[in-house]
Amino acid sequence: MSTVQTQTKTAYDVEKLRKDFPILSRQVHGVPLVYLDNAATTQKPLSVIEAEDRYYREYNANIHRGVHLLSQEATKAYEDARVTIQKFINAASSSEIIYTRGATEGINLVAQTWGRKNIQAGDEIVISHLEHHSNIVPWQMLCEEKGAKLRVIPINDRGELLLDKYKNMLNDKTKLVAIGHVSNALGTINPIADIIHYAHSKGALVLVDGAQSIPHLKVDVQKLDCDFYVFSGHKIYAPTGIGVLYGKLAHLNAMPPYQGGGDMIASVTFEKTLYAKPPHKFEAGTPHIAGVIGLGKALDYVSAIGLDAIAAHEHELLVYGTEALSQIPQVRIIGTAAMKAGVISFTLGDIHPHDIGTILDKMGVAVRAGHHCAQPVMDRFDIPATARASFGLYNTKAEVDALVKAVKKTLEVFA
Ligand SMILES: Cc1ncc(COP(=O)(O)O)c(C=O)c1O
Repeated sequence: MSTVQTQTKTAYDVEKLRKDFPILSRQVHGVPLVYLDNAATTQKPLSVIEAEDRYYREYNANIHRGVHLLSQEATKAYEDARVTIQKFINAASSSEIIYTRGATEGINLVAQTWGRKNIQAGDEIVISHLEHHSNIVPWQMLCEEKGAKLRVIPINDRGELLLDKYKNMLNDKTKLVAIGHVSNALGTINPIADIIHYAHSKGALVLVDGAQSIPHLKVDVQKLDCDFYVFSGHKIYAPTGIGVLYGKLAHLNAMPPYQGGGDMIASVTFEKTLYAKPPHKFEAGTPHIAGVIGLGKALDYVSAIGLDAIAAHEHELLVYGTEALSQIPQVRIIGTAAMKAGVISFTLGDIHPHDIGTILDKMGVAVRAGHHCAQPVMDRFDIPATARASFGLYNTKAEVDALVKAVKKTLEVFA
């Protein structure tokens, strides 16, 4: 019986869960790996690795087009995963689940299809100062092409959105609010339910960048009433190269296709092509079948533990780590929002974050150092970069202790 099946709702047995992740038992530089770079990508449980392996060993075939058994099995696994995803985010229909390469592609898909059709000169698109470059650049490109205006919700010194400014920003030219649910750079959890509600009251649609919320928070797209929600599989223990765009069916029906090719058509003649219905209208070409199967398994894995239990565990690590790092006078935590996911971004005196990252790595502690693809956030705090520790479901307090020890060691090296 797998660890997940034996996991009880009352006790969060992190040591048991860790055994599901083969990579966590490896050493780096002769010491045990302490993996605290989960906001960049998460490690994969055996059930995901084995599901991909089984696909290639036992039923590797292209989907939808084959009458032979392998193709039917592959197609079933591919479409079953769509239903798993639909249930995971509580979409109304599996036709609203479109496979993409990741959050980035999902946002670009909406910008290039819905955006190109609906945005005109003088229109406004609202994003925030917290966004990942993936939720800035596609809208900048669209605005440039269309002569539209990009407006940015400012943040305060804790890294929280200024909602009053947001509300004042919306007007009858606002066509879309594209907003991150959780900031990858700071960990801020944005009040997206309010943001969506307000945008709708002004007639604007809302796209939620869920890259950092999907592994940590229970998401119900119907309850949120968002128009689009995107995420990447690799942030939630699934393979890289697979992600999801959720869109309300009415929008998807009205949107032109993204790419042309096989699998997205109903019929083709040289005179006229008729497109398939969503979701296939947006899935041209042979997709990442193994990745889709792995994503379905990853969501099963997370569901069996329960996102509430995962969130509570990660919150405990966040509180513990924040308290411990705050005892070190040279540590400056960047991002101190009241509502935060398991991310601690920090600077250490005037030591460059790349140097922090390098010394931590020598001690086995993997964190990210840099601007985290959120340069405007760094500019807002007048720093070039931070070191960032980000927690996943398998991290422990002992690993947070290892982080703190390595940070102290860094100070000694640079003393
Ligand atoms: C908030 C946020 N949005 C979007 C992305 C882009 O995700 P991907 O590179 O998987 O497409 C990331 C990745 O770090 C992210 O953290």
